[in-house]
Amino acid sequence: MPDSVVFILAIESSCDDTAASVMENDKVLSNVVANQLIHQQYGGVVPELASRAHQQNIVPVVDVALKKAGISREQLSAIAFTQGPGLMGSLLVGSSFAKSMAFALGIPLIAVNHMQAHILAHFIDEDSMEKPDFPFLALTISGGHTQIVQVTDYFDMKVIGTTTDDAVGEAFDKTAKILGLPYPGGPLIDKYAQLGNCKAYQFTKPRIDGLDFSFSGLKTQILYFVQKQVKENPNFIANNINDICASVQHTIVTILMDKLKLAVAQTGINSIAIGGGVSANSGIRLALINARKELGWKTFIPKFEYTTDNAAMIGIVGYHKYLENDFENASVVSKSRTTF
Ligand code: KG4
Ligand code: ZN
Repeated sequence: MPDSVVFILAIESSCDDTAASVMENDKVLSNVVANQLIHQQYGGVVPELASRAHQQNIVPVVDVALKKAGISREQLSAIAFTQGPGLMGSLLVGSSFAKSMAFALGIPLIAVNHMQAHILAHFIDEDSMEKPDFPFLALTISGGHTQIVQVTDYFDMKVIGTTTDDAVGEAFDKTAKILGLPYPGGPLIDKYAQLGNCKAYQFTKPRIDGLDFSFSGLKTQILYFVQKQVKENPNFIANNINDICASVQHTIVTILMDKLKLAVAQTGINSIAIGGGVSANSGIRLALINARKELGWKTFIPKFEYTTDNAAMIGIVGYHKYLENDFENASVVSKSRTTF
């Protein structure tokens, strides 16, 4: 712990959310997110529109985050920003803003890995959240990533399983598109799934060795299944939306849980922390809660606002890097693809 209190302004702009947060050490003072609704009409994130929207949003979002926290710019100890992975045009807006502000104020600049942030979000100090002990396994599931990470310390992480094609969030979003649901479809599939029968339709799970994942075959399977059914009955989707969503969600959750079970067996670590937008999914949350009772696992599920893309998770990494004096200079570059 530092002698004095550390105030960090954190900025997240890796995809289509412009977010800013102010942290007092490991506590969140404010956590502001501006979603970009413009992408809904295109059925996916349009990179050029995302970076333009970030440019419009970033000044007001940072301003609101500071005001909500009751902290002035002069009180800030450092500025943390998302270095990558993400869309280059989006990342550049956040990094240029963070660089200019940090150098204008004469305070340190901290670069944060977005996927590491989804994992370290568990260390935000909040009454309702329990912090995992090291080592633990992190399942990071989002629109861009599907990883199982062995976490030995704050900055000692190893990816032991990853997707070989689509991310799990894409499997949700692409299924939603097939069903004519708007982007991002994950939350809608989840909503309908809760009303349906998960055994109504069977989908085969991909056969992929070890701890890696594959979701593109499942997406194709769902597409052909729906096309065939719609040919026979044009109202198939409307009449069966709950059952279709429940069956798809059940298949995806089973794929994730099977790989987690294998990871636990291989590593001997049975503490599991989830992160990333898809960890908001009710099916995976329930499966993990059941695993506590049935398999004796310790499971850690973050608060919803720290699960989808947010800047508080960038702030908590910023805080731990601050403690290690891990700072950047003006030459630091954004990285669209990066690992840790
Ligand atoms: O982490 P995130 O906010 O952004 C990325 O870094 O990708 O994750 C967004 C993804 C989207 O694919 C969205 O459909 C999915 O998370 N998602 C969900 C749910 N809420 C968000 N997927 C399934 N069920 C949900 N409840
Ligand atoms: Zn994310």
